[in-house]
This record gives sequence, C-alpha cells and structure tokens, in this order.
Amino acid sequence: MIGVFDSGSGGLTILAALQKQLPNEDFLYLGDHARTPYGERAEEEIIAMSKEMVEVLFDKGCSLVILACNTASTIALRELQENWLPHTHPDKRILGVHIPVVEALTGLTWDRAATTKNLDHKGGTVVVFATSKTVASGTYSRQVNLRTANYTIVEQACPHLAQTIENDKNRDNIDSLVKAYVDEAIEKCANMPNAVILGCTHYPLVEDLFKKHLPAGIEILNQPLIVARALQVYLAKHKNMTSTNPNGKLVFLTTGTPNEIHPFKVHGLSQPVQFQKL
Ligand code: DGL
Repeated sequence: MIGVFDSGSGGLTILAALQKQLPNEDFLYLGDHARTPYGERAEEEIIAMSKEMVEVLFDKGCSLVILACNTASTIALRELQENWLPHTHPDKRILGVHIPVVEALTGLTWDRAATTKNLDHKGGTVVVFATSKTVASGTYSRQVNLRTANYTIVEQACPHLAQTIENDKNRDNIDSLVKAYVDEAIEKCANMPNAVILGCTHYPLVEDLFKKHLPAGIEILNQPLIVARALQVYLAKHKNMTSTNPNGKLVFLTTGTPNEIHPFKVHGLSQPVQFQKL
C-alpha cells in the first residue's frame, strides 16, 4: 500500500493521477486538515509534522509514502530521507513531488522515460507559483540550476491561496488572488515565460483560473501526471513496494473533522472522497 500525504485536500490532485496511472495499487491518503495550512509555518514545524504524518502512514502498513505537498516536499523531504528514515525505517521509502517536475522540465533524470514527452528542454523562463515557504526555500530554482543553466526560474509566493482553496471560500476571492499573483509574476519576468509550474498541490484545483489570467501560449506543467509517471518508473524498479491488487483500493484519512472538509470534485478518482477521522 502506498501512502499519500498532504497538509489538506490538495494532494488529492496527485492521488487522482497516481490512481489513473497505477490502477492496481492500494492508496491510503492522509490530509492533515487539523493543521493546514503548512505554507506559512516554520521549517522545524513542517519537518516535525511531516515526520509525524509519515509515521502514521507507515504504522498503517504503507511501505512507501509520497509527500503530495510541495511545502513538505521542498522543506522536509531531504531531512526525512537522509537523517530520519535510515535510522527509524530503513526498509521504507519516502518520495516527494518537486524532483519529478524538475527532472521533467530539464529532461535530466535518472530515467528519461519518466519525463513529459512534449517539453523540448531548450530552456527559457519558467514561473513557479507556490506557498511562501516553498518559495523561501528556493528549492525549485536550486534543483533546476544544479542540472542546467538554461532556465530562468521566477518564483512567485502566493500567500493564503492554498488556504482559500482548501476552505473553498468565495470563488471570486480565489479568482482575484490568482489574478494578483499571475500579474505580479509576469511583471517580474524579463522575458515572457514559456511554462509555469503550479508548485502547490492545491493549485491544480483552480488551474482554470491560472489559465484565464496567464497570457496565451504558456504551458502549465502537469505536476500530478509527471509525478504519476515517475512513480510508475520507480515501482517498476522496486517491485517489493507495489500492491498489485486487481482493483486498487482508496482510503481517505484526516486529522480534521470529516464533515467540515469541503467535498472537492477531483477528476479521475475511482470513488468519492469520504474522509474518515484518523
Ligand atoms: N498543498 C501544499 C503544497 O503543495 C500546501 C498547502 C499549505 O500551505 O498547507 O505546498
């Protein structure tokens, strides 16, 4: 069974793509709705809470956990993989969502099969929309620059956007936040961007609004699909981590109150999202 963790409901966008790509896997989703959002918290808190949530998923039988949260992934993944897992759960694995996107963008990956086919990898300007914490970490820029000098990465923090989406507050509020952040980002770009990364798993829930406000012709990288393809390649090489159930099951857990969670319609999930209290 594969664990999928997010601070709230954003990771459902990743889960839907994972299930579509890997229909025979069992997935256990955990949303930390009681403590969402993570995006404005201190690094130590994000690391501690991510550890705690991963531990829950391991205890429930997951052999592999995907941090389906860019904030947890960019802030905590390395610490968890390098300094925690080897001592506490050497037989388990944790993967994040930002590295597959960087690899797909640059075409520089340990396995080219996992990259998106329609990117030309020639470089250019790419805007990353993300939480304040992800942007402050500089992880996206650093990871791209480690691989190639061909890209100018412009990181745009979007305070309160994930939270506003999570609570499904007035769509007009979400629309004006998206417009303001898109305008701010475009203003910062010396050249018109050729692609954008929605570097927070909540943002694909309002991808239509990003499309509406971005200038025409800018590609929005599909993080859920990229992550799902990367996981498929990973599992082909780590067969002990797969569940191979003819009809993969989905279970949804939350640290919050199930009937207070907004019932997002996430395309591609084989069953309705019904959270159970952890
Ligand atoms: N969905 C999370 C991400 O991908 C963050 C939302 C939050 O701030 O909790 O960054």
